[in-house]
Amino acid sequence: MQKGMHKVNNRFNISEEYIRQSHAAMQEIYGMLQQYREESGRQLLAYTHVYGCQQNVADMELLRGMLAEMGYGFTEKEEDADLILMNTCAVREGAEYRIYGNLGALKRYKEKNKELRLVLCGCMMQEPHVLEYIRNSFPYVDVVFGTHNLVHFPCLLLENLRRRKRVIEVLEDADAIAEGFPVKRDNPYSASVTIMSGCNNFCSYCIVPYTRGREKSRAPEHILQEVQELAANGCKEVKLIGQNVNSYGKDLDCGVTFAQLLRKINAVDGIRRIQFITSHPKDLSDELICAMAECEHVCRSLHLPFQAGNNRILKEMNRKYTKEGYLELVGKIKEKMPDITLTTDIIVGFPGETEEEFADTLEVMRQVEFDGVFSFLYSKRKGTPAADMPDLVSKEEKQENFEALLKLQEEIGYRRNQIYVGKTCDVLVEGPSKNDSAMMSGRSFHGKIVHFPGTEALTGEIVPVKIQRAKTFYLVGERIE
Ligand code: 5AD
Ligand code: SF4
Repeated sequence: MQKGMHKVNNRFNISEEYIRQSHAAMQEIYGMLQQYREESGRQLLAYTHVYGCQQNVADMELLRGMLAEMGYGFTEKEEDADLILMNTCAVREGAEYRIYGNLGALKRYKEKNKELRLVLCGCMMQEPHVLEYIRNSFPYVDVVFGTHNLVHFPCLLLENLRRRKRVIEVLEDADAIAEGFPVKRDNPYSASVTIMSGCNNFCSYCIVPYTRGREKSRAPEHILQEVQELAANGCKEVKLIGQNVNSYGKDLDCGVTFAQLLRKINAVDGIRRIQFITSHPKDLSDELICAMAECEHVCRSLHLPFQAGNNRILKEMNRKYTKEGYLELVGKIKEKMPDITLTTDIIVGFPGETEEEFADTLEVMRQVEFDGVFSFLYSKRKGTPAADMPDLVSKEEKQENFEALLKLQEEIGYRRNQIYVGKTCDVLVEGPSKNDSAMMSGRSFHGKIVHFPGTEALTGEIVPVKIQRAKTFYLVGERIE
């Protein structure tokens, strides 16, 4: 641990002094790497891998920004790397197992390259039993930090480089989101912008409030400055990121609500599209519905997780709304914006969920007609209230329900997409389609994936495409000149 660190009761105090230290560490590492480059004629390379949600992706952009500032180049191949950084996810068991598997495989690179540094961070590190396991089972990991001290990474890495000793620093929370650090984004046209982090909701199945701490909003002027800079550099789309964006600003004294923030961003010259995730239904205000409807650059798509359709299950989940309340909210949204695309998250197999209770989930799906559903089998997370709830429902039954849900959504998704056939959509072009390089792919203003014949030169442009065919998960059309 560096002298003069700003730690208060196992909590980070993001002070100016602390930020200064991180910048100084970046400079010092830059000097070390330059010297190595001069001596060996080779730039040290970093390989980064991110698991999990958009928040983790945005965090990784910050970490990659810091790596670039320290003088690292980047490689797509693990075997060429001098530093491997993995940002981990704890939301479901499957992600955790994948990370353990990868860590085991990385050992051979360490054996081949003694200078290789292995760095682990993210949500998994915030789980005490996982941290203990990593400490004991993977002694070759060099640097470990958590979600709250992300910007302390340069100081921790410097300590490891200097002393060649393993450095582990995980803290319970931080008092703010640090500002003034470089962010490395690969897509110049579309950018994720963190507006808040953490969550106060404590849904009973969810690990996030334990791994990301309490809600912390960034000051509106910092967010706006970042968006203005992005726009000045040609960025057309911003995705505002937070675990629960609808409660943006409640922890600040600035009096700016999420709806007001949207209006401010909508007025930034050059920004053509604004998206945001994730919204909790209990916090989605009428003010926000109005702002969405009135702001011409706010995409006509909304991700509104409902998780389960049955009121008993919703109560057990601590979601703080009912099936009826959710449907009423959707009704209000559709009344203001009849063409809106709605997507959602659903958990199948919450402890004790019976067949009849699951039927309510299918009913909500039929009534709302979501454009897309992200469905997950319930995964027990140690330390959450749901982990101690009795569960007699068999794995087979849960799997059957899961498949029934997928089947229903395929029918609904297919039907919803037919609406666009014959219509023209403005598509923000992302690049060549993965399966066919003669086709370009992008997203419509309603968040639909659109493929059309075109050239790579269109990447980053917004072009009108007339839709000819609609499949379950995408639309196909032709560009109108
Ligand atoms: N098991 C399964 N799915 C979960 N999610 C969160 N926690 C769990 C869990 N323990 C899902 C929720 C959330 C999404 C990001 O992940 O649906 O909205
Ligand atoms: Fe998890 Fe619920 Fe917070 Fe979403 S709102 S991050 S599901 S606790």
